[in-house]
Amino acid sequence: MPALAVEQMTTSNPQKRPDKPLVEFRNVSLAYDETGNAIEDITLNIRRGEFIAFVGPSGCGKSTFMKLCTGLRQPTSGGIVVNGKEVTGPLSITGMAFQNSNLLPWRSVLKNVMLPLEIVEPHRSRLRKHYQEYEDKARRLLAIVGLEGYEHSAPYELSGGMQQRASICRALIHEPELLMLDEPFAALDAFTREELWCMLRDLWQEQQFTVVLVTHDLREAAFLADTIYVMSKRPGRVLEARSVDIPRPRALESTYEKPLADLVLSLRTKIGAIRE
Ligand SMILES: Nc1ncnc2c1ncn2[C@@H]1O[C@H](COP(=O)(O)OP(=O)(O)OP(=O)(O)O)[C@@H](O)[C@H]1O
Ligand SMILES: [Mg+2]
Repeated sequence: MPALAVEQMTTSNPQKRPDKPLVEFRNVSLAYDETGNAIEDITLNIRRGEFIAFVGPSGCGKSTFMKLCTGLRQPTSGGIVVNGKEVTGPLSITGMAFQNSNLLPWRSVLKNVMLPLEIVEPHRSRLRKHYQEYEDKARRLLAIVGLEGYEHSAPYELSGGMQQRASICRALIHEPELLMLDEPFAALDAFTREELWCMLRDLWQEQQFTVVLVTHDLREAAFLADTIYVMSKRPGRVLEARSVDIPRPRALESTYEKPLADLVLSLRTKIGAIRE
């Protein structure tokens, strides 16, 4: 085959190119209203399989970044490309989890986890026929996060940490390429939070999805992420993209060791200065 034809085949469909970034932001700004930009001139790439964390002061536009990434909002200027396509509306390749688990109280844990399958194609059309297969998958995910035996419990019968685990399973059931986590562990006690860091680390290591994690916890960001983006006060701009050069797999203990502790301190100093 002539070299040009090969070249065309490999470049014409960006979705088939693993080397292309999964998410591309080009000079993206968003103004919700006349009060001016919430985020401003953000340019960044997120690689497939990359784990990125966003940190920055309250109100700097972290959740706004999430909304843009998932197509819930369109930029006022600039462009966003996800999976090789300009984003013009909500994307189904994403899964999301938030500070509160938002499980539906009238559904069992298992049925909560299976909810996206009733909404997102191609699963929606396959669900009735392949119900058992999907249910097995939901049960497997629940087992991985330590919730075996709670499939038929109601959400309110679970602790906050257990609910949060279930909500992460729900975010992953349709195998999204992009997992968006907006302060998912913020409401938990320190021990449970660390347990769930390890759970997320293991899931990510096993399944290799791409993660965008918003957090106020710098130790969490440093432990989990490949790259940490530090945002300025509103209007949120990216002040720094910090690579985390700590080898993987990372043990929880590494968060108390010098390389990670130094990184956390330096981020802490930087964000302290932004807040002033
Ligand atoms: N729907 C909206 N309409 C108008 N303004 C909004 C809207 N959503 C957010 N904002 C404003 O945009 C700015 C960024 O908000 P955003 O929620 O992205 O911040 P954040 O970094 O996630 O904050 P936090 O750390 O407190 O969650 C804030 O000034 C906020 O008031
Ligand atoms: Mg927020």
